[in-house]
Amino acid sequence: MSNRDTGNSSTMLGAASPLVLPPLPYAENALEPVITAKTISFHYGKHHKGYVDNLNKLIAGTEFADLSLEEIIASTAGRPERAAIFNNAAQTWNHTFYWKSMRPQGGEEPPAALKQRIEASFGSVDACKKELASAAVSQFGSGWAWLVLEAGILKVVKTANADVPLRTGMKPLLAIDVWEHAYYLDYQNRRADYVSAVLDKLINWEFALQNSG
Ligand SMILES: [Fe+2]
Repeated sequence: MSNRDTGNSSTMLGAASPLVLPPLPYAENALEPVITAKTISFHYGKHHKGYVDNLNKLIAGTEFADLSLEEIIASTAGRPERAAIFNNAAQTWNHTFYWKSMRPQGGEEPPAALKQRIEASFGSVDACKKELASAAVSQFGSGWAWLVLEAGILKVVKTANADVPLRTGMKPLLAIDVWEHAYYLDYQNRRADYVSAVLDKLINWEFALQNSG
C-alpha cells in the first residue's frame, strides 16, 4: 500500500491510504540555539503529528479520503461545516512548509535571482525582513506570517489560526509560525525575539527561490 505524501507536493499516490507525517528536513537540535530541540520535539512530534493523525481520523470513510492534501484544503476552505477537516489539513500543510522555510545557518544573503525580486518588490532585503517581522508580531493570537508571490509581485501577508494563502490563490514562498507552541518554551511571551532570530539566523531563502519558479 502506498502512503500519500503531505510534503507540499500535489502528487497523489495511493487512494484512501493514510496521509503521512513527512520527516523533518534536519535533526531536532539542528536549529539550536534559535529553536531548541525541546521545542521542535513538541512542535513536530506532538503538534504537527497531531494534525496529521486528526486529519486521518476525520477523513476516513468520507468523500475526502481519496484526495491529496491540497485538494482537501481547496475543497473544505470556506465551508463552516468542514472547518475541522480544513483546520487539520491546512495545519498539516503549513507545518511541512514551515520546517522547510528554515535551515541551520540560514538567514544569510538571499540568492541573486531572489534578491533582485525582493528589491523590486520591497526596495531591499532588510525592508522585506522588517515587513515579515511586523506581520509576524502584529498577528493577533495564533497564525502565520508569509512571503508570497501574487501576480508576479512578492508580498508579505499574515493569516489567522490555520489559514493558508493557497486558499486565496497566492503562492507561498516562506512561512513563519507564530502560534505560541512555536516559541513559548524558548522565548515565553517574547514573540518579536523569536521572529527576528528566525529571520536573521534560520530563514531559508533558497527554499523561497525554489517556490518562486
Ligand atoms: Fe505550529
